[in-house]
Amino acid sequence: PTKIGVLTSGGDSPGMNAAIRAVVRTGLHYGLEVFGIHRGYAGMVEDDIEPMNSRSVANIIQRGGTILKTARCKEFMTPEGRKIAYDNLRKHGIDGLVIIGGDGSFRGAQIFSNEYDIPCIGIPGTIDKDMAGTDFTIGFDTAVNTAVRAIDKIRDTADAHDRLFIVEVMGRDAGYIALHSGIATGAEHILIPETKTNVEEIIAGLTEKEKRRKLVNLIVVAEGDDTGGGDEVGKMVKERLPNADVRVCILGHIQRGGSPTCLDRLIASRMGYHAVECLMEGKHNVMVGIVNNRMHYLPLDNAVKAKERFNKEWLRIVKILAS
Ligand code: F6P
Repeated sequence: PTKIGVLTSGGDSPGMNAAIRAVVRTGLHYGLEVFGIHRGYAGMVEDDIEPMNSRSVANIIQRGGTILKTARCKEFMTPEGRKIAYDNLRKHGIDGLVIIGGDGSFRGAQIFSNEYDIPCIGIPGTIDKDMAGTDFTIGFDTAVNTAVRAIDKIRDTADAHDRLFIVEVMGRDAGYIALHSGIATGAEHILIPETKTNVEEIIAGLTEKEKRRKLVNLIVVAEGDDTGGGDEVGKMVKERLPNADVRVCILGHIQRGGSPTCLDRLIASRMGYHAVECLMEGKHNVMVGIVNNRMHYLPLDNAVKAKERFNKEWLRIVKILAS
């Protein structure tokens, strides 16, 4: 390619800026012209596309959010919308794309690259970590550390009042944020969509701990859990244990923001660099992942379809350590 475009799409995640910086600077290193496409696919459809230089990505490696902004674009879902997007890319002479986003964004890229001959390289950017072909997604480490710090604070007040706290974390239909933050904060129960939640078992556990006068009771619930999330769990527990002092806290979008951790900056830098390398080598339609600390290239097709395998042993660890 001679001119490449970079965009961020779907929910933002901390570290996306570090990835943009890596794509722009690596592209410039190879003598490519690099264009920033604003607001994801919406910018492609609306021709919100601007050339970038080294200075455009100065002082952003430490910033959360995305300087290119992001959106979920309905028009790009239609063949007419994609045709307009393609014409806009042609107008600028863009002949390679780097898409930083989650599986929804890659689905769009995959359809687009089947219709038009523009190689697309995906970089996994989502706090949910729900992607196959990579051990890390940009933003997960920061989000999960934000959740851990928040839950630690909740533990202080839970302890002071002898309260049972139910904390809901994000993750859409994946339980990684809940599982990782729950283990790291010593939660008694971690409720995730990947497994069926047994409410009776939780109530029995809480009753037994009440007898032992256990000091702190924390339940971490993934928003996508089959119970319906934190509020629903709170209602169920209050119904069954009317004497328990229960509070529900929904962490929400605080998990999406903030300065990225070292790990997120590092993987974003590596993935951004390798995404451009892929384009230079003539690779088409792959996602750049990291598996066992090595770069791993997965066809976008598979990235969209496969889910990461969930390690059930972690649940056993939760049970044993919280007893
Ligand atoms: O995919 C990232 C994510 O933060 C999910 O964890 C959450 O379910 C969703 O996005 C929230 O979306 P929105 O920002 O549109 O409310």
